[in-house]
Amino acid sequence: MRTWPTDRVAFGGDYNPEQWPREVWDDDIALMTQAGVSFVTLGVFAWAHLEPEKGRHDFEWLDEVLERLARAEIAVDLATGTATPPPWLSRAHPEILPVDRDGHTLWPGSRQAWCPSDQLFRSHALALTTALAERYHDHPALAMWHVGNEFACHNIPCYCDTCAVGFRTWLRARHTHLDALNEAWGTSFWSQRYTHWDEILPPRRTTTFANPTQVLDYRRFQSDTLLDHYLAERDILHEVSPGVPVTTNFMTMHHFRELDYHRWAPHQDVVSTDHYVVASLEHPRHELAFSGDLTRGLAGGRPWVLMEHSTSAVNWQPVNPAKRPGQTIRDSLTHVAHGADTVGYFQWRASTAGSEKFHSALVPHAGADSERFREVARLGGVLGRLGELVGSRVEADVALIWDFEAQWAVGGPGMPSGGGLDYPLAAHTIHRLLLDRGVACDVLAPGAPLTGYAVVVVPTTYLLSDDEAALIAQAADAGADVLVTFFSGISTRDDHVRLGGYPGALRELLGVRVEEFFPLLAGESVALAPTGGGHTWSEWLTVGADTEVLAHYGDGPLAGRPAVTRRAVGAGHATYVSTLPDDEALGLLLDRVLSSAGVVGQAGASERVEVVRRVSAEKSWLFVLNHSAEPVTLNVPIGWDLVEQRQVSGELTLPPDGCAVIRERVAT
Ligand code: GAL
Repeated sequence: MRTWPTDRVAFGGDYNPEQWPREVWDDDIALMTQAGVSFVTLGVFAWAHLEPEKGRHDFEWLDEVLERLARAEIAVDLATGTATPPPWLSRAHPEILPVDRDGHTLWPGSRQAWCPSDQLFRSHALALTTALAERYHDHPALAMWHVGNEFACHNIPCYCDTCAVGFRTWLRARHTHLDALNEAWGTSFWSQRYTHWDEILPPRRTTTFANPTQVLDYRRFQSDTLLDHYLAERDILHEVSPGVPVTTNFMTMHHFRELDYHRWAPHQDVVSTDHYVVASLEHPRHELAFSGDLTRGLAGGRPWVLMEHSTSAVNWQPVNPAKRPGQTIRDSLTHVAHGADTVGYFQWRASTAGSEKFHSALVPHAGADSERFREVARLGGVLGRLGELVGSRVEADVALIWDFEAQWAVGGPGMPSGGGLDYPLAAHTIHRLLLDRGVACDVLAPGAPLTGYAVVVVPTTYLLSDDEAALIAQAADAGADVLVTFFSGISTRDDHVRLGGYPGALRELLGVRVEEFFPLLAGESVALAPTGGGHTWSEWLTVGADTEVLAHYGDGPLAGRPAVTRRAVGAGHATYVSTLPDDEALGLLLDRVLSSAGVVGQAGASERVEVVRRVSAEKSWLFVLNHSAEPVTLNVPIGWDLVEQRQVSGELTLPPDGCAVIRERVAT
């Protein structure tokens, strides 16, 4: 398998020449060269141009673009173009359109208006994929294939009749017998017992709460169905274009919740993702870092491709703030710090028309004579100097469990705190506090091997199988400090509550027994003794004889009862947090766990400054990233800063949003 360009940190983005007259293409290539662009993603939304009518292809324009790019030595991540069908296809076959929960058709006029189960759509998409693969498989510019685009960004869940049939087939494969399905879904409740497969429907809008396991299975089914589509295109590419890596861009972002990427990642030759900073989040830069660590986990610790982010504003938030000077470079290098070896953007040139005309780009509306483009060219220069760290890794002492299925289940119907408990909250909070302490963290699937991690964090891991719970217990036994938060290990993978006291799957490991949840209202908090407070959640907890109580509830109905506990287990420890403590109290607890596990963070890291190290067999590079609008001064090791191309040692001052990537004289 050819790997994605390895001699430099690839730099570029989505290139949509079909939106522009040919005169602009020459300017594009000249500016790309000037900015140090080394790759582009081509043809993502070009189906209507590639196949203007059924079966008639027009590849002449693409031939020319590819030729120009090849001459300029710009690598191409060539899209299969199947993300959005052309109007002629949906006009001829309106049955390919997705349908929402209320039975409304989602009409064309935007993008991705296709049903994941529709086989006619799929056959057209596969025909286009085949035609492109046959024509370009040995083109000198081709470096990677890009299947579709951001699968599930807009078209699932689809609730149409075709999906209903597909769902039944998927359910038969999962549950085999109707009895097993009835058992898994708990259909004895509310007279839902099925006597024939054809009675089963997608969880369309109904009178009140839908069956939670039906909803969970539907989300699994929709994710698997799109994966099936991806695999069908990928298999063609592997066959017709052997040796060229295939990817599709994930969306490992806070607000995207549709796909189970742990099931998708093993099928990517190179894992790639998109990330956009969401201005309304309380901690946007920490969310960016979390996305990087999650993507690195999906890539099995290997470097990954940042396929898209933005040079400045996006156009899809209520208000779209521009990035401050320096922020574009700093955000890109933050992704590299967390393991990206490719830095891609949406898009090369800002469009003059269409829904994204006010989305920032590498070349803004103002043109190349702009501060934004000058910063882009500076970034190209910096990335051009980072080739030496390509292939290096981030080494982490801490593993944090992340589960897409648990995210679905926690957001499912009829939960104790549907409005108040958002699945990522505990994971993001702990990850943020670790980041501020300079502690690197791998974000892993439940069931991933935990050997070698000094600390294992299990945040709101609501669904756990017996085997997954056993792995966590084994990690503690082998010496890890395991930190579990509330609402973990509650249910089986079919979302059946484990009996005998929560958290059923982890009760023994933690030496605690929860008799009842006491979720807190928005804005409500509970005092903790000796210090601090908790929010979001609390629990009526009893502890075993060998379990130490680190904190009690200080007021309210749980006053005097245990809130945070810790227990020695084999060579390690198991800590339980039954509320979400405020940052200070949680920070103190983390400090205790980290120091007991012997984990020391990177010096200089703080709420404002991120410090992350990438290492190879012989060298190491320290990323120092100022995430604030103020200058910062901190101590750094002796080395060479590849950003400013200068020797550094001892005290280093970074300007607002400034950064350094220090090749350390003594590798760590
Ligand atoms: C991504 C998408 C791009 C563009 C971008 C805008 O979701 O892949 O095509 O729409 O967002 O931020």
